[in-house]
Amino acid sequence: MAQIHQLPAQGRADHQYFKLLSGHTIPAVGLGTWKSGSKASEAVSTAIIEVSAIHIRTSLRNQLPGIAGGTRPQSCNAGRDRKKRPVHHIQAMIHWPFRLKEGAHRPPEAGEVLDFDMEGVWREMEQLVKDGLVRDIGVCNFTLKKLDKLLQIAQTKPSVCQMEMHPGWRNDKMLEACKKNGILITAYSPLGSQDHGRDLIHDPTVTKVANKLNKTQGQILVKWALQRGTIVIPKSTNAERIRGNIQVFGCEIPEVDFRALSSIRDQRRVLDGEDLFVNKSHGPYRSAADLWDNED
Ligand SMILES: NC(=O)c1ccc[n+]([C@@H]2O[C@H](COP(=O)([O-])OP(=O)(O)OC[C@H]3O[C@@H](n4cnc5c(N)ncnc54)[C@H](OP(=O)(O)O)[C@@H]3O)[C@@H](O)[C@H]2O)c1
Repeated sequence: MAQIHQLPAQGRADHQYFKLLSGHTIPAVGLGTWKSGSKASEAVSTAIIEVSAIHIRTSLRNQLPGIAGGTRPQSCNAGRDRKKRPVHHIQAMIHWPFRLKEGAHRPPEAGEVLDFDMEGVWREMEQLVKDGLVRDIGVCNFTLKKLDKLLQIAQTKPSVCQMEMHPGWRNDKMLEACKKNGILITAYSPLGSQDHGRDLIHDPTVTKVANKLNKTQGQILVKWALQRGTIVIPKSTNAERIRGNIQVFGCEIPEVDFRALSSIRDQRRVLDGEDLFVNKSHGPYRSAADLWDNED
C-alpha cells in the first residue's frame, strides 16, 4: 500500500501536486477551515504566504473575505500574491450523499431525511463543468456501493473523493476503489479532528515516529497521508502549526515507520454522520452503519 517513492509530484520544491483525472493539477496539501470561524481568513493568509499554492477547503456557507470575493464552492486553490489572491481552480463537491429537509433538526426528526436523487444532482454537477463555472467535481463521504452507483451513471467521473482518513481510520477499501478508478482521495480530519474526535497527536506510535524523525506529530500525520497517495487537508488556526503542517516536503517516513503507522489497531470513524442523518425510530437511516451501507 505504501507509495513511499512514488508520489506523483510535480512542480516547485516547496510543494507537490497531484494530477486529477481531468488533467488539472491540485496541490497535495490543503488547509481545512471547518470550525475556524472568524480566524479562517487569517489562517488562509498564513498558508498562502508559506507555500506557492495551497488547496483551501471551505464551504458555500464559509466566507473567506478578501480571497477573491468570499463565498465559493467547496475547494479552491489560491495563489501566493496576497494583494490579488487569485483563485485558480474551483472544485464543487457533493458534501454528503443524503438530503435533509430545509431547517432539519440535528439529529433529524421523522420525515426530515428525504430521498437523495444522485443522478439528478450529478447531472447538475456535470453541467457546472460544461458551463465553465468549476473545473472539477467530486464527492465526499461515499461508500463503495454509492461510488459504484455513481460510476455507472456518470458521464464525467468525479476527480476527487473526500473521505475521513488517518492512521486511526485508514479506510483501505475506499482508497483502493478510488485508485482503481483514477479518483484522487482527499483525506479529511487527518489529525483525528481532535475536539470530540480522536487525539492522534498524542498517539504513542505517532509520537514515537515523530521523535525518531525529529518532526512534529502533525507533520508525521500529514506525511503519512501523502505517502499513501492522498491529498491531505489539516485544519489549524495557529500560525506555527499551519506552517509546520505544510512544511512536509523533502523528507520521507521510512517504510518500517510507515508500516507501524499503518498498523494502528482500534480503527474507527470519528465523523460517522450519526448526529446529522440518523433517526433511530423513523429512519430511513436508523444507525451509522445504515449510513455507511454496512460496509465498515
Ligand atoms: N467533507 C466532510 O464531511 C468533512 C468533514 C470533516 C472535516 N472536513 C475537512 O477536513 C478539515 C480537517 O479536518 P478537521 O478539522 O476535522 O480536523 P484535523 O485537521 O484532523 O484536526 C484539527 C485539530 O487539530 C489541531 N491541530 C492542527 N495542527 C496541529 C498540530 N500540528 N499539532 C497539534 N494540534 C494540531 C487543530 O487546532 P488549532 O486550530 O488550534 O491548531 C484542530 O483542533 C476540516 O477543516 C474540513 O475542511 C471535511
